[in-house]
Amino acid sequence: MIILYLENCKVTAHQQVNETDYIITLQTDQIARVSEAGQFVQVKVTEGFEPILRRPLSIHTVDREKKEIKLYYQILGKGTEILSKVREEEIINLLGPLGTGFDTALENSKALLIGGGLGQAPLLYLAEELERKKNTVFLALGTRDEVSLRNVVCFDDVCQEVSLATEDGSVGFKGYITDNLPEIIETFKPERIYACGPSPMMKKIKEIAKTYQIPCQLSLETRMACGIGVCLGCTVKPSDQSKPYLKACVDGPVFWAEEVLLDE
Ligand SMILES: Cc1cc2nc3c(=O)[nH]c(=O)nc-3n(C[C@H](O)[C@H](O)[C@H](O)COP(=O)(O)OP(=O)(O)OC[C@H]3O[C@@H](n4cnc5c(N)ncnc54)[C@H](O)[C@@H]3O)c2cc1C
Ligand code: FES
Repeated sequence: MIILYLENCKVTAHQQVNETDYIITLQTDQIARVSEAGQFVQVKVTEGFEPILRRPLSIHTVDREKKEIKLYYQILGKGTEILSKVREEEIINLLGPLGTGFDTALENSKALLIGGGLGQAPLLYLAEELERKKNTVFLALGTRDEVSLRNVVCFDDVCQEVSLATEDGSVGFKGYITDNLPEIIETFKPERIYACGPSPMMKKIKEIAKTYQIPCQLSLETRMACGIGVCLGCTVKPSDQSKPYLKACVDGPVFWAEEVLLDE
């Protein structure tokens, strides 16, 4: 049964992380109560008509006691620009939680979480859930530069180890995190991989996970419109071509790597 809420949520904090990235904290009785790691919300960024479509943002973390969720987002265009201007105490309308999240039925195991850029957004909630179930959690995060890593301290309490890579070499390994992945896997020996990031990165991780025969879940950043399975704007090709196309908004955004066919 799908449990879905349309809630008016008060902004209790809105923090700028760097020039383009923000963390918004929202008070939400229902969504905080039922959401799972890897799910997302559709955010109505304005009371007006422009933009008309809601914007999908992953649930970054949840505080059930305080009845709050946090969203980590980057200004990309009009919708996120409008969102960045919202102040504390204002009300934002959310639809959610949406989608199929990560499989967290894992205990006393070793999990490797891999994020690329904004792919870090859903991984904090996942890391918290896995740590709660006594898993050892290793985070591998790749971004363009040091500035995009300003939020990584949030992971310190729930991850045993953190490995960083930047394209400009300002922090950690210089290059893509996937270039360093075989070494990370051979050192940490994970029993499960979870990843979120751009499509070429997901494709590479799928190949590497297959080589090492590690079960792997991928959260795809497929563009979405309705977010509830109606518009067919988010289709993903299944690996088994005899099966119908998958919808990222309801069947995903998280898929088992072998379920989906990924284009660059
Ligand atoms: C399930 C899901 C979860 C997401 N979680 C987050 C999150 O936690 N934090 C976050 O910052 N963003 C997240 N995104 C992306 C976010 O939804 C878009 O950045 C946002 O909708 C852009 O809206 P906008 O009006 O600011 O920009 P628009 O004006 O709509 O677009 C600006 C530019 O960004 C491109 N763009 C829009 N959406 C995407 C996308 N999904 N992937 C790549 N390029 C895109 C457009 O083509 C355009 O070039 C998520 C997307 C999905 C589908
Ligand atoms: S976004 Fe409309 S069907 Fe997925």
